[in-house]
Amino acid sequence: MNQARGEWSSRFGFILAAAGSAIGLGNIWGFPIMTAKNGGAAFVFVYLILTFVVCFPVVMTEIAIGRHTAKNPVGAFNQLAPKSIFAFAGKLGVLCGFMILSFYVVIAGWVFGYFVEVVSGGLQRLAQDGEFGNFVANPYKNLMYTGLFMLATVGIVVGGVRDGIERWARMLMPTLLIMLLALIIYVMTLENAGKGLAFYLIPDFSKITVPVVNSALSQAFFSLSLGMGALITSGSYVSKKDDIIASGFIVTVLDSSIALLAGLLIIPAIFTLAPDTTAETIKAGPGLIFEFLPKVFMNLAGDVGYFFASFLAAFFFLLISFAALTSTISLLEVPTSWVVDEKKIRRKKAAVLIGVVIFIIATGSVLASGASDFFTHFITYPSGADKDFLSFVADVFFEMCLPLGGFLLSAFAAFRWKTHNLSKEIAVGREHYIGSVLEKWLNFVIYLCPVIILFIFVNTVLAKLFDIVLF
Ligand code: TRP
Repeated sequence: MNQARGEWSSRFGFILAAAGSAIGLGNIWGFPIMTAKNGGAAFVFVYLILTFVVCFPVVMTEIAIGRHTAKNPVGAFNQLAPKSIFAFAGKLGVLCGFMILSFYVVIAGWVFGYFVEVVSGGLQRLAQDGEFGNFVANPYKNLMYTGLFMLATVGIVVGGVRDGIERWARMLMPTLLIMLLALIIYVMTLENAGKGLAFYLIPDFSKITVPVVNSALSQAFFSLSLGMGALITSGSYVSKKDDIIASGFIVTVLDSSIALLAGLLIIPAIFTLAPDTTAETIKAGPGLIFEFLPKVFMNLAGDVGYFFASFLAAFFFLLISFAALTSTISLLEVPTSWVVDEKKIRRKKAAVLIGVVIFIIATGSVLASGASDFFTHFITYPSGADKDFLSFVADVFFEMCLPLGGFLLSAFAAFRWKTHNLSKEIAVGREHYIGSVLEKWLNFVIYLCPVIILFIFVNTVLAKLFDIVLF
């Protein structure tokens, strides 16, 4: 990217940055958990429909707003819809960036911690039941790993080493893909993998309930880095020559493919390595990949030896850390570019300051897995559910605020900015767009999106907080 308000050097630059932002823990850590928790294939089915019908139009809207205004989300909404409810959408986005990063960086710290543990010979220990619980309950180690991750993120955002990261991403992302594929093939050869495959691929449509739909929408937003203006920010550097529909579509497909592959690895692995598992008893919680990935590699150690299996495991956790890093960069970018553009503070100072504040909030999430009673039992919802600090922040900002942001964005495009302006922006760089079937379709769903999202949002809030299921 050029300095000041420049442009990506090529269309590839934008795709790489947007895919780097999208592909991360949401795909590899979050998607398998959500799938296991929400009935397997039924969830995958709803997730894919929502990704392409509801989220893709919002992806387009974010990129179009970004390119049109060449601003951060707050500035963009202030320009296009000053002093309206939509100006709130920009501010909400900045707040989401803060809060999502505050727990994201803790989970990224776990992944990096697992890399370190495996390198120091601990694979066998990590593969034992209950070891994840011991690991996350250690406050000192986790504060260090979280701190390191935050430091790396701030360092990259202020250090201007983006080009270096881009070069690494070009190599490491395809490597991650290849390793995922190889591990899937390996797991498929194990006993009982077929059961997992059936759970993952053959939908039982009676399992599509309101909570399943809620989770699918929040997960799709999170995975695509949608609903808080991250794509407005990266869209603000897109050249007027680029076809943003093609770019947005490539990013959407890449992101959902990696999520689908992560599920294809983890879900059958659960059925093979915990052979008593059934569709009803399948485990799902924040420790899912941390429990089963070491087990997969320990199993592999029987064929290739402990040393080589440890090497592969370490490399895999390192690749996931890298994927997480390209996401934390994009999360920090939103509040940083807001402070730089609107408050006229230097970039370096802004990123460091924000990084420190986020780290302080993150401390609560580090201590939320047993180290501190206060953060482990942080809040009781009116429904009676007892939540730790990390889950609470995730519930509010991941499950609720991202869809709310998506609602405001699509409502903005449909009712304030209006579809002819959206079309005009998309048509720049894409010949024959105006009047095409694609334009008609997008302009139609952009009216539908706010309705669908609002409906799901209301249900999510009622179900999460009050345990009320309307439909
Ligand atoms: N999409 C990333 C993931 O799947 C996380 C992420 C990065 C994100 N930037 C974001 C989520 C902005 C929401 C909004 O891991």
